Amino acid sequence: MAVGIFDSGLGGLTIHEAVARRLPELPLVYYGDNAHAPYGVRDTDDIFRLTCAGVERLWDDGCDLVILACNTASAAALRRMQETWVPGDKRVLGVFVPLIEALTERQWGDNSPPREVGVKHVALFATPTTVSSRAFQRELAFRAIGVDVEAQPCGGLVDAIEDGDMILAEALVRSHVEALQRRMPRPEAAVLGCTHYPLMADVFQDALGADVDVYSQANLVADSLSDYIDRHPDMLGTGAGGTFLTTGDAERVSRKATQFLRRKITFQAA
Ligand code: DGL
Repeated sequence: MAVGIFDSGLGGLTIHEAVARRLPELPLVYYGDNAHAPYGVRDTDDIFRLTCAGVERLWDDGCDLVILACNTASAAALRRMQETWVPGDKRVLGVFVPLIEALTERQWGDNSPPREVGVKHVALFATPTTVSSRAFQRELAFRAIGVDVEAQPCGGLVDAIEDGDMILAEALVRSHVEALQRRMPRPEAAVLGCTHYPLMADVFQDALGADVDVYSQANLVADSLSDYIDRHPDMLGTGAGGTFLTTGDAERVSRKATQFLRRKITFQAA
């Protein structure tokens, strides 16, 4: 009985933490494709191939349900995976929909027609691939009308976070926020559309100002997963959980993860 959590690297740990807090009894297996991060500058075929390889590894560990805790993979590969590749007895879920459901004031899984919502001006911060996919705008259009989205591709930010260079990461956040504000001076809400970015949430909030609602995905994904598992208990696989897998250098990745989460995390080779 385990659920798999997939990311290109360390960012999905923000989702892993929130899920572990929300569902402490649920065994989890984490897979970080650190050897190939960042995904945000790769082409969609490449992202599809790498994401399928990671998901298959999690299936091998008995995780029939896998969360793509990566917006870039969710934007670039998820639909193709679901339509052409995922067998009927497995599930792969993304991280966009819970975020958009929260932003548009919906219950989890409410697929009723789009309607007017309170928020009108939304800033989206995401990787270049996620921004150019327009997946966020597409999912939003299914649920809300009259929402203006201004998207900022945050080039370089995932690399800086993966390298643990937080001084560079902070400078990049501030310059990406400034660039966005030149086009949308007063967003009401800002979406951190990359699972690495919650590691910089304080800097985003400070640069945007206290009156901007900053949405980050971790707790939203954890709540919606809890709801999904209540409705689909049969999707819990046979795996034991408790492992962290990486395609990168396990020692180095463990050191960075421990630094980010401020508790000991030990990765092993995938
Ligand atoms: N954490 C990923 C996301 O949510 C990763 C991005 C990347 O590897 O570029 O988009």
